[in-house]
Amino acid sequence: MNAHTHLIEEDIEQYLKVHQHKSLLRFITCGSVDDGKSTLIGRLLYDAKALLEDQLSALASDSKRAGTQGGELDFALLVDGLSAEREQGITIDVAYRFFATDKRKFIVADTPGHEQYTRNMVTGASTADLAVILIDARKGVLTQTRRHSYLVSLLGIKRVVLAINKLDMVGYSQEVFEQIDADYRAFASKLGLEHIQSIPLSALRGDNMTGASGNTPWYSGPSLIQHLETVPIDDAQEHAPLRMPVQWVNRPNLDFRGFSGRILGGSVRPGDAIRVLPSGKLSTVARIVTLGGDLAQASSGQSVTLTLCDEIDISRGDVIASADAPPAVADQFETTVVWMSEQPLLPGRTYLVKLGASTLGATLSPPKYQIEVNSLDHLPAKSLALNEIGVCTLSLDRATAFDPYAENRDMGSFIVIDRYSNQTVGAGMLHFALRRSQNIHWQALEVDKQARGRLNGHQPCVLWLTGLSGAGKSTIANLLERRLHAMGAHTYLLDGDNVRHGLNKDLGFTAADRVENIRRIGEVSKLMVDAGLIVISAFISPFRSERELARNLVEAGEFIEVFVDTPLAEVERRDPKGLYKKARRGELKNFTGIDSPYEAPQAAEIHIETSRYSAEQAADYIVEQLRKRGLVH
Ligand code: ADX
Repeated sequence: MNAHTHLIEEDIEQYLKVHQHKSLLRFITCGSVDDGKSTLIGRLLYDAKALLEDQLSALASDSKRAGTQGGELDFALLVDGLSAEREQGITIDVAYRFFATDKRKFIVADTPGHEQYTRNMVTGASTADLAVILIDARKGVLTQTRRHSYLVSLLGIKRVVLAINKLDMVGYSQEVFEQIDADYRAFASKLGLEHIQSIPLSALRGDNMTGASGNTPWYSGPSLIQHLETVPIDDAQEHAPLRMPVQWVNRPNLDFRGFSGRILGGSVRPGDAIRVLPSGKLSTVARIVTLGGDLAQASSGQSVTLTLCDEIDISRGDVIASADAPPAVADQFETTVVWMSEQPLLPGRTYLVKLGASTLGATLSPPKYQIEVNSLDHLPAKSLALNEIGVCTLSLDRATAFDPYAENRDMGSFIVIDRYSNQTVGAGMLHFALRRSQNIHWQALEVDKQARGRLNGHQPCVLWLTGLSGAGKSTIANLLERRLHAMGAHTYLLDGDNVRHGLNKDLGFTAADRVENIRRIGEVSKLMVDAGLIVISAFISPFRSERELARNLVEAGEFIEVFVDTPLAEVERRDPKGLYKKARRGELKNFTGIDSPYEAPQAAEIHIETSRYSAEQAADYIVEQLRKRGLVH
């Protein structure tokens, strides 16, 4: 049993105390199993005596069984973790490991080296101070080395250890080491990576892992552990201006009103002048409250509750910042986005974006370009697929405080969430605000929607008909418009087939084009509602997200979703345009219901089962519903 386990078992308090005051270095390892990455991490943990007894005995028996190291310990088996991964011989997810030496504590994020796992690397690296990039001395700088280095620079990691491993396999050659070091530096300078320490290693044999190796007398630099123990840890955030996004407003009773959150930059003391963003209101810090009592100061990384000297309006997601160096506020940004979902990015779709302590509705533009991570080339792209990286404009539904990622990683990064599945589908970095949003104002107009509606004698609204192609949307829409017209209502009918000949003639039927089709129709419908009309929109509009988008463009009560519900079997039987047959023959791609999904409404205001009612009855029924809602008389 090693010293650490003894200590933990005998006196946990003492163990924690010993480690509490050590600095913490977070680092990431990049490389593949072939480069010896798992062996390297296993050896680090072993040499740091961070392995527990039971792990060691399991390792000894695993090593014997696998026989990969002739009965010696195979450190790779330790790290390769889950058995499924072991069998495949690859590491497939981010694993965080904690270990400590006499001088420092470490958290290492171990991420896989394969291209398809870019998202894991981005996840693992987002808080790292340093990256250990592994190179097999026999192979030198490879495509994957370049990819890892690009991601490391993209994520703002300033320090790199170039672990030139397996030097025993090249006879501990100084020449090989120096050539790789020179090759790498030439490439890394293009990425702006400045602090690079190359170390000649054999993780397997233990050369230059903890102390100087007799096999590399020509190397006078630090061993890997020595370097990790002494490399400066970036504390720029502690000296930066105060940033604290408000996680929640803490109001247990009328006498206390505190703002809780994690400090993401700078420090704060009672008496400090602060500014609240986005409102810009000023106040002074009264107290820094924690469970353990009030503090005289708190800094970056700490979670605290602040009370202020003034009663000002602050809500969740607002940022408390130093009064004289506040963050900028904007709602449109240039960003780099890493896509993390099997479902590609749909430009124009409303996603949720989490930024600081805010969750906002947001859309991403089509990429200005995609970055090919191996060559760093900029490629044209309409969308981003899993693990692809591109530069896109992010538009939020309201303005928020932010800092550029290069200045503050926490204040300048965001994740993208699908509104229905609640899954994280992307992550990104804010580079700068696109000023446009701040310069375009709303013009207050005097003749408004209500005034126009009064003149027309009815309430403007949108009747949004959705359903499969051939479900009967256009037929019902036509009959409905005739009835409303006869009643003296001012109407306009937007129909899929027709709009696609004009406004949307540049769009096809890919998921991305359908999103854009519906986004435009939503905007047009909104303008027409504002013009005082009853708008009838008849589009397949297969995706819930975009119907929701169209709904949210107008006011509550103005959007009436009408589900024209005809089962696929029935529309296929009718097949008025012969399109289903074509689609079944494979001559028409992305056909709704065949090889492109239709997401049926779950709570449409009006549900019409066409098997039970004729189109005439359906139109009558809709008019009756409009009367009931007081929209027409
Ligand atoms: S939507 O999906 O983007 O809302 P929209 O309602 O505008 O579709 O257009 C649907 C009409 O386009 C269909 O009624 C059909 O006549 C025609 N069409 C041509 N190709 C397709 C396809 N791949 N999927 C669905 N409809 C198609």
